[in-house]
Amino acid sequence: MALYDQVGSTYSATRRPDPRIAAQIHGALDGMGSVVNIGAGAGSYEPPQTMLAIEPSAVMIGQRPPESAPAVRATAEAIPLPDDSVDAALASLTVHHWHDLRAGLAEAVRVTRRRIVIFTWDHTITRNFWLLDDYLPAARETDARLTVPVDTLTGCLPGRIRVEPVPVPADCVDGFAAAYWQRPEAYLDATVRAGMSLMALTPPADLVDGLERLRADIASGSWRMRYRSLLNRRSLDAGYRLIIVDLP
Ligand SMILES: C[S@@+](CC[C@H](N)C(=O)[O-])C[C@H]1O[C@@H](n2cnc3c(N)ncnc32)[C@H](O)[C@@H]1O
Repeated sequence: MALYDQVGSTYSATRRPDPRIAAQIHGALDGMGSVVNIGAGAGSYEPPQTMLAIEPSAVMIGQRPPESAPAVRATAEAIPLPDDSVDAALASLTVHHWHDLRAGLAEAVRVTRRRIVIFTWDHTITRNFWLLDDYLPAARETDARLTVPVDTLTGCLPGRIRVEPVPVPADCVDGFAAAYWQRPEAYLDATVRAGMSLMALTPPADLVDGLERLRADIASGSWRMRYRSLLNRRSLDAGYRLIIVDLP
């Protein structure tokens, strides 16, 4: 059974596309007439010119809005499209789930004529995020295990490559791992945690002590004291990255 058939049932409750991040991703696909969205999930960040969504989990496909692009149940490793059939490929927060990364990237290159855009994160930065560093070391280990280094991705892809930071707004509406950097209470909510793969894939018992400490620090005011430098910020570079590859 696909992982997201097990953990994806509440995905849409907490994982809605953030409009500022969507604008950055859609901007990277500007001028591309057709897009394949690989690991499309429920359709977050899918640009309007998407002609096909590739997604292995029926549970995730079932959460796609009715007006979204047609979806086929398939994986990145075997994209059911002919060679050079789309202008661009998008892979948003998915490459860390592929069971054969190199095969998936080779497939993206095979079906794409012009550009590949990957939304991912850089663990060398996320590992210092206060939640993982100070409260949940077990989730940080999961993050380290899940991460695909940016260098690994860029090393597998031909052409001109740019890597852009994707700042996380203070009121980010997509509940990924660092979304609540200024709203620590959110991490105490089990439904919020269920939408974050680094939490969902960490044994719950390994999170109990850290979450209890976080609860106590929020209640006593010591979280606000310790992280007061974050409180007036409007966005944070928490390590999310957009890799934009113009194929040769
Ligand atoms: C965190 S979700 C991201 C979904 C969506 N792209 C987004 O940005 O919200 C990761 C998705 O990758 C999918 N996935 C897992 N293994 C995959 C594979 N081998 N090929 C393509 N997609 C895969 C999962 O089923 C899940 O829907």
